Amino acid sequence: MAEPVRILQLSDTHFLVEGESPQGGAAYNTAEAFDAVFEHAASGPAVDLVVVTGDVADHGRQDQYQVAADALGRFPWPVNVCPGNHDQDAPFSSGIGRPGVSTSRVVEIGSWCFVFADSNAGVMVADDDGRYVDPDDVDDRLHRNGTLGPREAAWIVDVCGATPADHVFVWVHHPPSVPIPMAYDAAYSAEWEEILAEVANIRGFGAGHTHIPHHYEWHGRDVYVGPALKNNFDRDAKTWLPPGYRSYTFNPDGTFSSDLHLIDDERWPRNSFGRALTALFDGEITHDQLNEIVARRAQG
Ligand SMILES: [Fe+2]
Repeated sequence: MAEPVRILQLSDTHFLVEGESPQGGAAYNTAEAFDAVFEHAASGPAVDLVVVTGDVADHGRQDQYQVAADALGRFPWPVNVCPGNHDQDAPFSSGIGRPGVSTSRVVEIGSWCFVFADSNAGVMVADDDGRYVDPDDVDDRLHRNGTLGPREAAWIVDVCGATPADHVFVWVHHPPSVPIPMAYDAAYSAEWEEILAEVANIRGFGAGHTHIPHHYEWHGRDVYVGPALKNNFDRDAKTWLPPGYRSYTFNPDGTFSSDLHLIDDERWPRNSFGRALTALFDGEITHDQLNEIVARRAQG
């Protein structure tokens, strides 16, 4: 009888070169958070694959991908990575790969096909040679809540149609139709709706981006959002959360389950957060406006 496929998911690792400041507001030391997550995950049961669903490097620079690859290469299992909105395409593609750490777009194990979608592909533009590259303005990529674009959407449909595997699971940075106003994009959800209307074998999604680990159902599919290493929140309890990861078991019959693992430690207390972060998550203020509020408070 076929064995279940076991996978660990890390997300939003936001690696920095030692001593650098993170982008945006308050953040954990992601090297320290990675060490804690790694120790917990690597001492658990063996898995078939470790997945990282984007925002691998905080500023999307090549030297940060070398730090990331050094860290991820410590896993005794293969690691496969897809990009997020913080990941700049050229340094990501050239910087992350090394033995044991890959950027494959499709991984087939047993009766499962794991598709690694690029939910930033819609911002890319053709250069003079016709190769699709990131736009000149990095903010075009950084400030999006997901856009596949027609080429990536067509590729996903093709892969789902061509795979000999019975079941498809999509790993992608931006969760489709996420029920959090801060991170929701109607056009991106519509792209996935069109794909689901064309292919029947997608069983679910594993994503990141929100830094709010959770689970919801959409069009009969389970969508799991993994915790971040940079900072992490419980929107219902209105508290910060420690860093962590998810484990998954994919069964040969197409069912699967996921468990959330958060590494509680005095370095990452579950402190309450106030109205400003609630307003950010509810889409009432932007990240820039939040940063202005934080700066004003710091001035007293
Ligand atoms: Fe992130």
